[in-house]
Amino acid sequence: MRKKIVAGNWKCNTNLQEGIELAGAVNNLVANEAANDVVVVLGVPFIHLTKVVETVDTNRIGVSAQNCAAEPKGAFTGEVSAEMVKSTGAQYVILGHSERREYYGETSEVLNKKLALALENGLTPIYCCGEPLEVREAEAQNEFVKKQLEETIFNLPVDEFKKLVIAYEPIWAIGTGKTASSEQAQEIHAYIRSIIAEKFGDEVAEETSILYGGSCKPSNAKELFANKDVDGGLIGGASLKAEDFLGIIKGF
Ligand code: PGA
Repeated sequence: MRKKIVAGNWKCNTNLQEGIELAGAVNNLVANEAANDVVVVLGVPFIHLTKVVETVDTNRIGVSAQNCAAEPKGAFTGEVSAEMVKSTGAQYVILGHSERREYYGETSEVLNKKLALALENGLTPIYCCGEPLEVREAEAQNEFVKKQLEETIFNLPVDEFKKLVIAYEPIWAIGTGKTASSEQAQEIHAYIRSIIAEKFGDEVAEETSILYGGSCKPSNAKELFANKDVDGGLIGGASLKAEDFLGIIKGF
């Protein structure tokens, strides 16, 4: 059975003290919940990783970086390598977020290097894809997302591909308060699963968790997660408040 996952993406928010507090609050709320089978992940700034790993029960909550370097090590001032991320005790890394693609020029070529290094270092990539508004308006979202996948994760050997989590995040829904409708989410998630099946076979497609991201909140999580091909969420704004994040986890 594929995993249900709710992952927070704190982006460039919280100083270290605030981050520790937020991680502690999420940890307590999740611990008090009756056992539920949702995998919870916190995607935190690099400098928070070590402390957040210490703060949460890592058997219950996974910790993720939001990026890693495209090079293994060396003279790349300001970069943080996949190996460094792994050495903090973090288990995941978000790769290919639309903000990284748009503001930091991350191309498929760069992403392929990052994916390879993340996997080599035993991190689980949460690979993001999703179309901008004009593509959705032209109803070309399927082709757009297919191209993103074909240029990156579809080049991986099947055993590596199986380690990934995919997050579909329509750019027009990120941080805008505009959520994809439940039907829009289901439709494209089913499409993504179908092209995974074409490429890697039905069994692999069935086992791949595909998360939805973009203005997901406690009030719409239940409806989104009820869709058969939506296996959870990648949560930005609403992951910065422990209660809201828990409300989303309880959407399952
Ligand atoms: P949002 O962000 O929930 O604030 O829309 C989602 C994301 O960018 O991962």
